[in-house]
Amino acid sequence: MRGVKTSVIPDFTQNPKLLEIFGESGPYYTSYPTHGNWSNPLNHADYVKSMKDFFLKNGDVPIHIYVHIPFCAKLCFYCICNIVVTNNRERMQYFVDYLCREIDLLGALFDENSIIPNIKEIHLGGGTPSHLENDQLEHIVNKLGGIADLEGLSEFAMEIDPRTTSQENLKFYNTLGINRISFGVQDFDADVQLAINRVQPMEMVEGLLSPDVRECFDGFNFDLLYGLPKQNRKTFKKTVDLVKQLAPERITLLKYAHAPELRKHMRLINSEMLPSVDELPLMFHDAVQSLTAGGYVWVGIDHFAKPSDDLAQAVAEKRAWRNFGGFTTGETHNLIGIGPTATCAIGNAYYQNAYAMKEYYKAIDEGKFPIQQGYQMDSDEVLRREVILKILCDSSLDYKQIESKFGISFPDYFARELASLGTFERDGILEFNGESFNLTPTGQFFGRHVAKVFDKFLQKTEGVYQITGP
Ligand SMILES: C[S@@+](CC[C@H](N)C(=O)[O-])C[C@H]1O[C@@H](n2cnc3c(N)ncnc32)[C@H](O)[C@@H]1O
Ligand code: SF4
Repeated sequence: MRGVKTSVIPDFTQNPKLLEIFGESGPYYTSYPTHGNWSNPLNHADYVKSMKDFFLKNGDVPIHIYVHIPFCAKLCFYCICNIVVTNNRERMQYFVDYLCREIDLLGALFDENSIIPNIKEIHLGGGTPSHLENDQLEHIVNKLGGIADLEGLSEFAMEIDPRTTSQENLKFYNTLGINRISFGVQDFDADVQLAINRVQPMEMVEGLLSPDVRECFDGFNFDLLYGLPKQNRKTFKKTVDLVKQLAPERITLLKYAHAPELRKHMRLINSEMLPSVDELPLMFHDAVQSLTAGGYVWVGIDHFAKPSDDLAQAVAEKRAWRNFGGFTTGETHNLIGIGPTATCAIGNAYYQNAYAMKEYYKAIDEGKFPIQQGYQMDSDEVLRREVILKILCDSSLDYKQIESKFGISFPDYFARELASLGTFERDGILEFNGESFNLTPTGQFFGRHVAKVFDKFLQKTEGVYQITGP
């Protein structure tokens, strides 16, 4: 199932018990502990200490850099990201100057401590990096060139709103070294696009992907959302068919998170227009079936890749990893975030930059990293992170591998967890093989649910052991 082409996807939607399990809420584990559990009041000084300690011990470890550029031209009603809708060029230039000053702070930290970071991946995200002018983007990339060898990067990716770019711009980004593009697509249906305030016909995306543009890049990713207003099984199947025609190398398929209490603008979506809760697993299953039948490898949870893509190969070789952006090829496990709200995973600590632009600018004016919160893991959490990510990335868990890395007896340490996995075995979700277990083909839909059993925060608050009790 994983790492191979297949057109046979088990239909768990025919089994009411599995449907019930699938519908349970739970984390997507882009970090462990998950963001909601980062409770330590960490600040600039903690961050500086974590960075120094980490690089002292791990000088040459490959690093991923994420840069958050929060601006968008227009509000998409479904958007949950931290964004600023503006077309005010001066406001954006003001931000670019501060962002570059944050990169300077990082450069100074490296220089003062004789650190030469081995930066292998950079991701420009947001918001919409393509909403900046080309010269602003070039300025940021040149600044990043002061801390990273841009020519030595394995991956230099950029998120793009197809409505804010052109073939010429895409070629320009490539001259800056960008080798992967991620397009926000979401859905190609005209009624859905109207309901989400994002009109972007398939022809617009197709028009950008000329052979010479494709030639410039190692690959394209399309973001898709299911659960949007006016969507149904039929319309979404059509969107997936059109996506397959355009043949991006990677696809990210997320469930729409409707949180009007958190993002007021989501009230502009009439909740009566949302597909029913019962339809969601069917839409997801249809999409998995269609994409795998179309030759995509199901990387896990929400990601698909062509078999020739690095990500599919990383899964086949059990090298894949998961970070705040989803599944990765696993070259980097440590990540530095730059820009408002950007998150950082360095060694055994997480950090996050300020949300409010005012706070972000204030910290930079004071010559400080704009850290707002974070989390310092203990040794049990580091172990659980490894177990959870291994289940999600490899669809299996080898006890010996964990034992040799952490010096524990897996069956003793996780006796309670292993006992509660029995119910997943009975439901055909996983199989035990002596000193390991793996997800079955049906179990591919339930990696998150199995991983939850090892999440100590859910053990405390949600009684995870009861979730599939006999
Ligand atoms: C920063 S946006 C993508 C880049 C660019 N701004 C664009 O929209 O074309 C990142 C992705 O977050 C996802 N996203 C946004 N709001 C979401 C929500 N409410 N639930 C789930 N995913 C969401 C979308 O798939 C979106 O493409
Ligand atoms: S989906 Fe992308 S373009 Fe739309 S508001 Fe969110 S970040 Fe901006």
